[in-house]
Amino acid sequence: QPLVGLVGWRGMVGSVLMDRMQAEGDFGLIEPMFFSTSNAGGKAPAMAKNETALKDAYDIESLKKCDIVITAQGGDYTTEVFPKLRAAGWNGHWIDAASTLRMKDDAIIILDPVNLPVIQNALNKGGKNWIGGNCTVSCMLMGVGALYKAGLVEWMTSMTYQAASGGGAQHMRELLTQFGTINSEVKALLDDPKSAILEIDRKVLHKQQNLSAAETANFGAPLGGSLIPWIDKDLGIGAASHDDADWGVSKEEWKGGAETNKILGQGAGFGTAATPVDGFCVRVGAMRCHSQALTFKLKKNVPVADIEALIAADNAWVKVVPNTREATVKDLTPVTVTGTMNIPVGRIRKLAMGPEYVGAFTIGDQLLWGAAEPLRRMLRILLD
Ligand code: HSE
Repeated sequence: QPLVGLVGWRGMVGSVLMDRMQAEGDFGLIEPMFFSTSNAGGKAPAMAKNETALKDAYDIESLKKCDIVITAQGGDYTTEVFPKLRAAGWNGHWIDAASTLRMKDDAIIILDPVNLPVIQNALNKGGKNWIGGNCTVSCMLMGVGALYKAGLVEWMTSMTYQAASGGGAQHMRELLTQFGTINSEVKALLDDPKSAILEIDRKVLHKQQNLSAAETANFGAPLGGSLIPWIDKDLGIGAASHDDADWGVSKEEWKGGAETNKILGQGAGFGTAATPVDGFCVRVGAMRCHSQALTFKLKKNVPVADIEALIAADNAWVKVVPNTREATVKDLTPVTVTGTMNIPVGRIRKLAMGPEYVGAFTIGDQLLWGAAEPLRRMLRILLD
C-alpha cells in the first residue's frame, strides 16, 4: 500500500479530513504515516498501522519516504517545507489545502467534480502538486459549475456571506463569545416582556462598540450582530487597469476571479480573466457555511427550467431548491447545510435587468467541500 504522510491532521480542517477519510474507508487503501510539528515521537492516532509513532513534520528524510503527502497544516508550513522536500529530490505527490502554491504554473487546483479533465490532463503530463481551492470558490463551483461547463457564463458577480470558520477555530470561538457577551448585557431586559426594545438596542450597541480587545482579537471588529465587508488582505490592485478609481480588491475577492478561471483550465487572470468573476466578500456571523448571492450574465437567454436542470444534473451533491419562500427558508440556510456534503442552489430566477441576467443563491460547508473533501478525493484519484 502507498505510504501516505499526513500533516496537520489535528487542526480544524485536518480533523474534518480525518473524519471523512474514515467514513469513506480511505485508510483501508493506504499505509498512513502521521506527522506532527510539535509532538514528534508521540503516539499516532488509531488509524495508524505499522507507523505508530508521530514523525517530525520538518524532517525531510521522513517526508521523503512518502509516496504522497497530504497537508492541512497551513501556508507557513508549506512555504517552509515544500521547497526543501522538492530540492531534496522528492518526486511524490503533494496534496495541500493551503493557498501558497495554488497559482503556481505546476500546481493544479483540485475540485474533481468540476475539473476532472484538467486534473487528468495534468496527471498524464506528470503533475505532482495538487492544491485545494479557496473555500468560497470551491463551494460556488460545486453549485453552479454546470453553467460554466456549458459555456453559458459571460460574467458572474458573487456577493458572499462567509462564516467565522473561514478565519479559523479561534474566530468561531470569538464569534460565540461576542454573542454571549451581548446577550448577557441585556438578559434581564429580555426576560421582562414589558421592557423597551429601544433600551435593549441601545445597550446592545454600547456593548458591541465596547467589546474588549480580547473579544475582537481575531476579527479586529465586532461580528456578533454585525458584519465585516472585507476578508483577507488588501492586494493594492484594481480589477481593471484603465481606471485608478477601481483600487481596493481584497485578496478573497481576487481569488474568486483568479481561481475560478484556473480551476476551469482557462488561465488564471483576474482583470484579464477569460470569464470575469468579481464581487464583494463579507464576513457574517455564521459558523461554518459560506453562502453566496450570484448574478450571472449569460451569453444567451436560457429558460429557468433548463438552467435548473443543468445545475441539478451536474454532480451528486448539488440540490436545486425551488424558488419559493417555504423551500428557501427550510433548505437554503447555513444551519440546514452545516455538516453535510449537500450544496443547495436556490433563488434561481431571471433578474429585472433582462433575460440573460440570472440570480442564484448557494451555500456550502466550507470545511467539507470548501477544504477537506477535494483533498481526500484527489488521494483516491491517485490511488486508482
Ligand atoms: N479565506 C476563506 C475565509 C477561508 O476567510 O473565509 C478559506 O479559504
